[in-house]
Amino acid sequence: MNELVIRQPDDLHIHLRDDDVLPLSVGHVSTQFRRAIVMPNLRPPVVSTAMAIEYRKRILAVTPTGRLFDPLMTLYLTDRTTPAEILMARESGIVHGVKYYPAGATTNSDLGVTDLEGRFKVLEAMMKHGVPLLLHGEVTDKDVDIFDREKVFLDSVLLRVVKEFPDLKIVLEHITTSDSVDFVDACSEKVAATITAHHLLLNRGDLFDGGIRPHHYCLPILKREEHRLALLRAAISGSPKYFLGTDSAPHERHTKEASCGCAGVYTAHAAMECYAEAFDSVGGIDKLEDFASTFGARFYELPLNTSYIKLVRKEQVIPPTYTYSGGAIVPFRAGQGLNWSIET
Ligand code: NCD
Ligand code: ZN
Ligand code: ZN
Repeated sequence: MNELVIRQPDDLHIHLRDDDVLPLSVGHVSTQFRRAIVMPNLRPPVVSTAMAIEYRKRILAVTPTGRLFDPLMTLYLTDRTTPAEILMARESGIVHGVKYYPAGATTNSDLGVTDLEGRFKVLEAMMKHGVPLLLHGEVTDKDVDIFDREKVFLDSVLLRVVKEFPDLKIVLEHITTSDSVDFVDACSEKVAATITAHHLLLNRGDLFDGGIRPHHYCLPILKREEHRLALLRAAISGSPKYFLGTDSAPHERHTKEASCGCAGVYTAHAAMECYAEAFDSVGGIDKLEDFASTFGARFYELPLNTSYIKLVRKEQVIPPTYTYSGGAIVPFRAGQGLNWSIET
């Protein structure tokens, strides 16, 4: 297949950030996606519906004119989130999930939850009002090997949450292991997972390919090849539990090319082309539309998009950087080729 016309997709997990980089990230995501679930890990984080409404306005203000793009907002769960805030979020109609970051697990997560059990009243309210819980699924214990932190999270945290809140909708974000695939498969239809393009295309060897590769460093960290293959199998399985979430995360070049570099990979410039390459590599391109445009929308109870995009098997070369007033972003595959392109 050299051409593929699919319903316009949604990105169910993205970091757009704020301020000077916002026009760049919104420009990219809105070229491809009709809607996106926008992560709340700003500084300070988006902890209330009022903040989410303001942030949404800032996103819409920099959306290129004439482009249809719906930012679907999320709240950042903290030790102080109340059940009343959940009700407010639900009633706003613009908040579509609440994000749980274990404190210190990843970029801008220092105000995350230190004690999830202390938040059970909030989870109860979420279950009652039908607000999905979105999880960065890693433990933060430094004694747990970094490659095992996702697996340990499943056993020590998620199992308990799923048991206590059987009707709570849960998205295990950016899964990276066969353990997560097994876990999600074994749960009810309330539990789903997003898979990034970079975790479908890279394994942990790509972190050290001829030298250290800061632009491949993200959390959860890239895993062994056997895990990448398990993610690919899940993505093309046709199971509605797995859908597209890029986790595209802009970090200014010098914050990644540093003695202590930030975690995050930027894929918003060519997300669908990256997924197309990954799906195509295992003969699963015909499964891309459901993964990108159907399963996530259904999970979030959104109408399917009515516009279409066309992907063609045609090489494109990715620029070395995207510049903005605050510096530069080094995108995924910078200066290299991608096998697929979007035709407009
Ligand atoms: C994300 C970011 O930069 O905000 N980074 C990452 O490595 N994935 C945060 C996140 O999704 O964990
Ligand atoms: Zn995360
Ligand atoms: Zn993320």
